[in-house]
Amino acid sequence: MGKTAIVTGSSRGIGRAIALRLADDGYDVAINDVPANQKGCEEVAEEIKKKGRKAIVAIADVTKLSEVEAMIEKSVKELGELNTLVANAGIAQVKALLDLTEEDFQRMFAVNVFGVQNCYSAGARQLIKQKNCKPDAPGKLIGCASIVAFKPFPLLSHYSASKWAVRGLTQAYAMEMAEHNITVNAYAPGIVGTAMWDVIDEELAKKQGKNKGDVIKHYVKELTALGRTSVPEDVAKLVGFLASSDSNFVTGQTQVVDGGIIFT
Ligand SMILES: NC(=O)c1ccc[n+]([C@@H]2O[C@H](COP(=O)([O-])OP(=O)(O)OC[C@H]3O[C@@H](n4cnc5c(N)ncnc54)[C@H](O)[C@@H]3O)[C@@H](O)[C@H]2O)c1
Repeated sequence: MGKTAIVTGSSRGIGRAIALRLADDGYDVAINDVPANQKGCEEVAEEIKKKGRKAIVAIADVTKLSEVEAMIEKSVKELGELNTLVANAGIAQVKALLDLTEEDFQRMFAVNVFGVQNCYSAGARQLIKQKNCKPDAPGKLIGCASIVAFKPFPLLSHYSASKWAVRGLTQAYAMEMAEHNITVNAYAPGIVGTAMWDVIDEELAKKQGKNKGDVIKHYVKELTALGRTSVPEDVAKLVGFLASSDSNFVTGQTQVVDGGIIFT
């Protein structure tokens, strides 16, 4: 029998690459994003169907627990029992610490931390209810951190703190979910050429008096051992491993995939 996965924030970027990779690995996939990205979700779902797997679109704002629960319910109803949930959705913002407003901080944590918490908690409840998680076939919860969960980037401070929180939450969930045969891991990408890094690059360049493209070039040339910008597929390969039976004895880890920027 096939397995099913939900990937949040998968209309584009890293989430899209993860959804396509999981489909290649035999998963049927629920594609999630916010209503504004419905079209992108439908396109990714079509790509997956062309691979011969099932795909549905489940629009939900991950900051709202009730919407995350409805997303899971829809996926289970239309694709079958849940095996893997990838809490990938996230936002970034470039701003100096002393310029941050309460709203900036709350919004960052609402999406990047509460969003992951909503997915981990509702996902775990669903997996436990199904009674199908076994030591040799654990349920899998996977969250999105970042290299800034190990060393913050200046001007990305609240983003960095939110990703540190994902790392902590992932460790805590791993401990409490072990008795239910659920593993909980996170992935920590470096500098991935997506819409998100486009904005980060532009904003950092403005603040540092550089041209657009200069900051990313610096980070790649000076800081990345393997000397190139990451592509979403680099990250999807790691998530494919975390979602596969090859990682059944791995839990509580936040695995870096950055071409050698941060060494843990
Ligand atoms: N791009 C990078 O260099 C990089 C590095 C490290 C970590 N990450 C993380 O990877 C993940 C994916 O980022 P990306 O680079 O593909 O960015 P992206 O902006 O291209 O994709 C993120 C997706 O999440 C969706 N999203 C945002 N808020 C949401 C919400 N409340 N509910 C549902 N969906 C929501 C967005 O609409 C978007 O489609 C994020 O968690 C990000 O923090 C990215």
